[in-house]
Amino acid sequence: MRSVRDIPVLENIPVLVRVAMNVPLEAGRVANDYRLRRAIPTIRFLAARGARVILISHIGEAGTETLAPVAQALGKLIPNVSFFGETIGPRARDAVRTLLPGHILVLENLRRNRGEKMNDPAFAHELAALADVFVEDSFDTCHRVHASIVGVPKLLPAYAGLQLEEEVQELSAALTPKRPSLAVIGGAKFATKEAVLTTLLATYDRVFVGGALADDFLKASGKEVGKSLVSETSGDGILKILHDPKLVLPVDSLVVSASAPLTPQVRAQARVAGVDQVRSDEIILDHGPGTNALLAELARGTKSILWNGPLGNYENGFTDATDAFARAVADSGAHSVVGGGDTIASIESLGLLSKFSFVSTGGGAMLDFLANGTLPGIQVLDNTRL
Ligand code: 3PG
Repeated sequence: MRSVRDIPVLENIPVLVRVAMNVPLEAGRVANDYRLRRAIPTIRFLAARGARVILISHIGEAGTETLAPVAQALGKLIPNVSFFGETIGPRARDAVRTLLPGHILVLENLRRNRGEKMNDPAFAHELAALADVFVEDSFDTCHRVHASIVGVPKLLPAYAGLQLEEEVQELSAALTPKRPSLAVIGGAKFATKEAVLTTLLATYDRVFVGGALADDFLKASGKEVGKSLVSETSGDGILKILHDPKLVLPVDSLVVSASAPLTPQVRAQARVAGVDQVRSDEIILDHGPGTNALLAELARGTKSILWNGPLGNYENGFTDATDAFARAVADSGAHSVVGGGDTIASIESLGLLSKFSFVSTGGGAMLDFLANGTLPGIQVLDNTRL
């Protein structure tokens, strides 16, 4: 990959930067600006050299959200930020034409146009018409084959941003961990984790599977998981992984009645159940204290820890296991690489960000990169030319 540092001339040059502005919104405001803070070094690098910086990103799955509040939040972190409520077309091109050197223009949510997800060449051409140079700095989306990610770099001289370079360097290094090593994968949906689990079992000394993902394994091993979230079809792949001696599973869970609403009161009354004690009308929502102690023990004395995905139903307030492991990693002194939205939320809320060696901005992208050693949005940067 050629680096943003290699762009020969930047003064007065319109530079299109694919950034990660897919941030959580609450009541129309940015609820967490972590990704924006990580986008700043590349934006600052370009602006300081007099480039006219055009930022493009998606927000949300469906394309209904606007990036207006995100541009506002970015404007609190760096000066001279403005927002234009369209993404392509003559008015967007006019907005770019009047952009001053060193200033930053945020365009509207890419997914407002169906061409983005479809990787429509016409949409990619419209985007490319906005600038002379393209910079990819949105590692979190490099696993998506969308127009702004794989289409535009074929049409403009394309470079990797500072954040993308760091992600590639750190996650590549995480594939050759110092031993003893521990990988922890949480979240849900076995199908989306099978490839990375296979890679990690070949690379790491111990691989702990947590969160709802563990329910798939407990079920495959014949345990009762009640009404817990499980993947519909797990196939034979799960049995192969299940019998790998490096695999570690939870030993207990926090469970509630499946018919109970997930209120704080119900949460406070959750029952600790060993993996053989879950009833058919219950739902697993977090790990229990035995598993937290097991994980803390695994983290102690480990030299490299890799972690992606929450260990409980984090978004509904079942944060104990995730928070407990965040503390255990921070205390371990191991080289630690983490990623995934809820995982980062936990670390941030505990004030532990600085205790981690590297925090990836990718969720699914981090897992895919670890599984394959590259991503479509990264590969395409190798094939471009000035
Ligand atoms: C993420 O948050 O993981 C990335 O921004 C990708 O978002 P997407 O899942 O909506 O493509």
